[in-house]
Amino acid sequence: MAVSVDRILRWKQTGAPAQPITVLTAWDVMSGQIVDQAGADIVLVGDSLAMVALGYDTTLPLTTEDMLICAKAVRRGVKNALLVVDLPFLSYQTSVEDAIRASGQMLKEAGAQAVKLEGGHEGVVEIVRRLVQWGIPVMGHVGLTPQSINQFGGFRKQGKTEAEADRILSEAKALEQAGAFSIVLEHIPTELARDIAKALRIPTIGIGAGVHCDGQVLVTADVLGLSAWQPPFAKVYANLRQQAVEAAQQFCTEVRSGQYPA
Ligand code: KIV
Repeated sequence: MAVSVDRILRWKQTGAPAQPITVLTAWDVMSGQIVDQAGADIVLVGDSLAMVALGYDTTLPLTTEDMLICAKAVRRGVKNALLVVDLPFLSYQTSVEDAIRASGQMLKEAGAQAVKLEGGHEGVVEIVRRLVQWGIPVMGHVGLTPQSINQFGGFRKQGKTEAEADRILSEAKALEQAGAFSIVLEHIPTELARDIAKALRIPTIGIGAGVHCDGQVLVTADVLGLSAWQPPFAKVYANLRQQAVEAAQQFCTEVRSGQYPA
């Protein structure tokens, strides 16, 4: 049975199935097919694709048009998982109307079943409330929110001081109150993620946030060993980048030596 937002919500509330939620990212039809076939519960078209697939240094340059092209491609490859699409930087922060418009495009044009957006301050919470009122399911994202990289001064762990930890916990609670159906907790201390998971009825999805979250997400290019660099908390399960270089080298060698075509 295909995964729905309702199923993700009930997952934590009913405790069934009694296992963590799995989330992997995708950026094109092939990566979408791979993670869907692998059985991920949620496929996230994360704005990390700006770095992974488009070669930018941060997620900030990604446009709504870029995202729509990639999300449509992923949609063609995903049959079972819940498809969640990130709202690009400044496609939603500018006004509730802009947020509804950008989310509408992701649902109407790309076939997303939910959108994800970053942050938990009052402005974002109001946007989440309004999106949910209009029937647009929202996944929140707190802790290290890469769209605020200029404020953080790097991809640094967040929530290390008591004041920061209190703020992140309050943000997560406010997002739940506003109607978010789940929340990504990125690069925060394990104990803080544990406290947030305990305090919320909606599932928390961790990335670099330890074992106590209700689910885990990683960037698929890191999992497969395709990305040139991986964050310290990522686990690399294959070395596809090296294998791909070797296969391409083999082709060049065989063509040059006359071994291929035979
Ligand atoms: O953009 C992304 O891939 C994400 C995940 C890392 C959660 O937001």
